Parts: sequence; structure tokens; C-alpha cells
Amino acid sequence: MAVIPVELAGRPYEVRIGAGLLAELGEQCRGRLRRQAVPIITDTNVHAAWGEVVEHALHNCGQEAHWRILPPGEATKSWEQLAATVDWLLELGVERGDHILALGGGVIGDLTGFAAAILKRGCQFIQLPTTLLAQVDSSVGGKTAINTPAGKNLVGAFHQPALVLADLAALDTLPRRELLAGYAEVVKYGLLGDAGFFAWCEANGANMLTGDEALREYAVSESVKAKARIVAADEFETSGMRALLNLGHTFGHALEAETGYSNDLLHGEAVAIGMVLAARYSARKGLMPAASAERIATHFRHIGMRADLSEIGLDCAGRRLADHMLHDKKMDAGTLPFVLMNGIGQAFLDRNVALDDVAAFLDAELQAG
Ligand code: NAD
Ligand code: GLY
Repeated sequence: MAVIPVELAGRPYEVRIGAGLLAELGEQCRGRLRRQAVPIITDTNVHAAWGEVVEHALHNCGQEAHWRILPPGEATKSWEQLAATVDWLLELGVERGDHILALGGGVIGDLTGFAAAILKRGCQFIQLPTTLLAQVDSSVGGKTAINTPAGKNLVGAFHQPALVLADLAALDTLPRRELLAGYAEVVKYGLLGDAGFFAWCEANGANMLTGDEALREYAVSESVKAKARIVAADEFETSGMRALLNLGHTFGHALEAETGYSNDLLHGEAVAIGMVLAARYSARKGLMPAASAERIATHFRHIGMRADLSEIGLDCAGRRLADHMLHDKKMDAGTLPFVLMNGIGQAFLDRNVALDDVAAFLDAELQAG
């Protein structure tokens, strides 16, 4: 098992990574679960795959699971589910010192974390991430949120978990498409700050995705180490460092908005294409060699992901995609900071990107292929 500390002043916590952590949930949480009935929030898919394992693990320590099982999918991150979940926790009599468990992907983690943030002005919670995306990104760093009709993740809070247990065995039941989508976020850490890790992904990504456990532990650990370093340095995204985690996301969110946040394009799939676009746009501005941008596209194609904007089948102009970016929550005093690259592993924040230029670039990308 790997243990990665997240060094936040006065509030440090651990991310433990290894196969079988859910089966030993009781011991892993020893000293933290004060209640005999432990409140656990999950979704129906995760409950079907892992509910029994979790129940046994708690039972072995003389405790029982008190489940709240929500529908799977992005629509669960809503005001309605948030209110009902908070009411449920209040009815259970959960106190500030109790720990609420979030068992699932980013949807369950974000919703549970936000409920924990506002319940009694802040309760403890433990992340039990079961998707690759949640293990390498959303369970670490304390961003919690719900969606509203105005957009995704527009209402939320920074609220750090007390502990993160990333069970690599959970990835065995994850649909391959979801695994690949999460892998885009693994590659992101190489692209934004560690060219050596990107080269490792090129050499080992395919085998890691097929199920090699040692490779999985390395991929998740390196990703979490990178995220922990950034979060420790810029917890509230004020210095510009944490914003680097948005590499590929500004382009990606425009694609998600255009496809209606539907199953046609998962978040990680949009981020993969978004990172290729960010690299190609950087090359167009003369910041990095075009060959480096194509190296990224080649890797995503190699592991079976779409890499080109022209592959999504959009029927719109670049201007329309650029207009979606105007609604990005990172808009700041009329400008939108973009994460661009001086090369693989050398991301930086550019606050002077002209959206007209981005629209022209996207037109060319839409027609390519
Ligand atoms: P998700 O939570 O919707 O999970 C994807 C699908 O996989 C769901 O159908 C789920 O039921 C299923 N699933 C999860 N674990 C499984 C398992 N082990 N076996 C079988 N099925 C399983 O999606 P996600 O990609 O994990 O998270 C996406 C969400 O994360 C978005 O809402 C996004 O905004 C958020 N996010 C948050 C942060 C953050 O820092 N808080 C960062 C990135 C993304
Ligand atoms: N996923 C981006 C962040 O945590 O800042």
C-alpha cells in the first residue's frame, strides 16, 4: 500500500492507495467511526458491485452500514439530492465529529463532500473513490460541488476529507470506457509538470489499463503525489498553481457544453481532446513543437481514446465553442485564463488569450481529419 500525505497546515490527511482497502474498511478507519451505524452514501452501480464487501468489512469490526443509495450519473449532483441527503444525515443525528463515508466516483464524492461541508457548518467525511478519475483527482483536494441549471459545479465549497482510501480493486468492476476517461487525468499530471511521467504513460499506460496492479499503484500514486503537492501549495486556487490542473478543461468544458453533458462525451474524454487542443494551440502560437502536440494525440489514440475534435461529430462553428467558454466559471474580469504549454511537462497560465483567435483555431480543427 502507498500512503501519500496531503500537507495542509493544521489539517493534513492521508491518501492510502492499494488493492483490498474496502475489504478492510473497518481497520483502515479504526478510531474514526464513532457510530455503530456508519452513514455511507453511494450510487446503485457501486452498491451492486461493492456494497457487500463494505458491509462485511464493517461487520467484522462490530459496525453496520447505514446506506443512502442514489441514482448514478451527473444529475445526482443537484439541489434536490443535496437537500434530501442533508435531511437524511440530520435525521440520523450525525454530529460534527462523526465521519460520513462517500463510496463512489466523482459524483458521489462531490455531493457527499458538499453535504459534509454544510451540515452543522462542517462535518468530517472520508472519500472511498471507486473510479480512476476519483482516485487520481476528485477525491483529493477538497473541491466539492453540485450542478445547477446555470452550469456544472457552480455551487460548492472547499472542504477537505479526513482520509482517502483508494482501493485499486474497485477499478476491476469499472466499465472500460470510464477507466479510459479517468486515465486522461493521469496523463494530465505528466503533461502539466512531469515529462518523465508522460513518457512512463506512453510506455506503460496500455498495460496499466489492462489491469497490471503494480502499474496501477504507480500511476495512481504518482498522480496523487502531483495533486497533493499542488493542493498543498495553492489550496484555494489563488496563486495560479492549482489552476494548472485545468489543463485541457477550458477546451473540454466547451465540448461538454456543446454535447449537452451527455453520454456522447464523458468528462475525461473531453479533457483528453481538450489537452490535445491546448497543445496544438500552444504549437500554433509557437510555444511548443507541433510534433510534441502530435505525440500526445498519438498516445490517446494508442490506448483507444479519441484525440481529435473532428471525431466527435459536432455540427457547429469554432465561434460557438468559444462562446461556451464565456460561461466558464474561471472567467475573471472579462478574461479567461487558459492553461497552455511551453512543451510536454511545462504548463503555464496565459491570461492574454484572444477568444477570436481560439475560435479561428477551432474552426481549423473542426475541419481537419
Ligand atoms: P461518476 O461518479 O459518474 O462514475 C462514473 C460511472 O461509474 C457511474 O455510472 C458510476 O455508477 C460507475 N461506477 C463508479 N465506480 C464504479 C465501480 N468501481 N464499478 C462499477 N461502476 C462504477 O463519474 P466520475 O468520472 O468518477 O466523476 C465525475 C464527476 O467528478 C463530475 O461530476 C465532475 O464534475 C467531478 N469532478 C470533481 C473534481 C473535484 O476536484 N472535486 C475533479 C474532477 C471531476
Ligand atoms: N480538479 C481540479 C482541482 O482539483 O483543482
